[in-house]
Amino acid sequence: MIDRVCDLEREALEALGEAGDERSLEEWRLRYLARSGRLSMLLRGLGDLPDADRPAAGKEANRVKLALESAHAAVSRRIETARLEVATSIDVTLPGRRGPRGGLHPVTRIVREIVAVFGQLGFRVSEGPEVEFDSYNFERLNIPPDHPARDMHDTYWLDIPGRSGQILLRTHTSPNQIRIMERQRPPIRVVVPGKVYRYEAVDATHETMFFQVEGLAVDRGITMADLKGTLATFARAMFGSERRVMFYSAYFPFVEPGVEVAIDCFSCGGSGCRTCKGTGWIEIMGAGMVHPHVLRGVGYDPDEYTGFAFGLGPERVAMLRYGIPDIRLFYSNDLRFLRQFH
Ligand code: DAH
Repeated sequence: MIDRVCDLEREALEALGEAGDERSLEEWRLRYLARSGRLSMLLRGLGDLPDADRPAAGKEANRVKLALESAHAAVSRRIETARLEVATSIDVTLPGRRGPRGGLHPVTRIVREIVAVFGQLGFRVSEGPEVEFDSYNFERLNIPPDHPARDMHDTYWLDIPGRSGQILLRTHTSPNQIRIMERQRPPIRVVVPGKVYRYEAVDATHETMFFQVEGLAVDRGITMADLKGTLATFARAMFGSERRVMFYSAYFPFVEPGVEVAIDCFSCGGSGCRTCKGTGWIEIMGAGMVHPHVLRGVGYDPDEYTGFAFGLGPERVAMLRYGIPDIRLFYSNDLRFLRQFH
């Protein structure tokens, strides 16, 4: 019995030498010292010994138990000390490593700038839903179901049971003209930035998702002169105070008359270059006087109230401003592109 206890002691101490961390030390303790460990198993045999042998064997077993316990404690201290040394070798006075810093997306910057310019002119900001009813996106903007203008808006329809052909992803921000007019009375001066969607082939100047900023002003006595003054002021704030601004006739179903707004080319000064495609002029937005039919549709009397509306594309403004050649760069999440605007 004494021999076996001594053998176990030797084996255990040898195994302890291998225990290098808290986990292996605990495994060692469970194997040799714990209540169900090897030493306890041996001690259970003490009772079977002849009376004469029992005291000596018991004494020896006790000695081994104490020896293993103190060896365990020593190794445990050594491991803990080593752990603390690693911890204190970290210089906590060093400044932390800087994480990467985000920045505003170029389109966000331009949208904010556009909204700020109109804010100075007394326009407040509003937003509306990207999932829209046909009635707001088309019908109440004077675009009935068989209207050819629908061809210009390749539409993503939502397949909702019982509502087929009624719900879509808005193809422009103009439905907010209706939403705003139906919930308040004039005077109205509001701009509405937001995403719009069109099911069309993607190329350097077309994306299936892009932004627009809609504008609307309705009050007594608003005329085309207000439209021209407001939008020329905007164009000069965005593209330079020396800009010449041209308004020319264009068709949009929800305005009459409708116009397109162009600025003289800031790149070549009007002599013709790549930016203005040789014309000397750069088209920046659509606009017009709110159609009487649209006013009547929201319960306004067109003899009492008139207004103007406009819509522009922030990506196009950003492309002109920063010289970006391809609209796809905005939404391809290439950090080499995006970081340039931080
Ligand atoms: N909604 C038009 C489009 O997406 C842009 C537009 C044109 C908006 C004229 C207007 C407007 O408010 O008066 O092409």
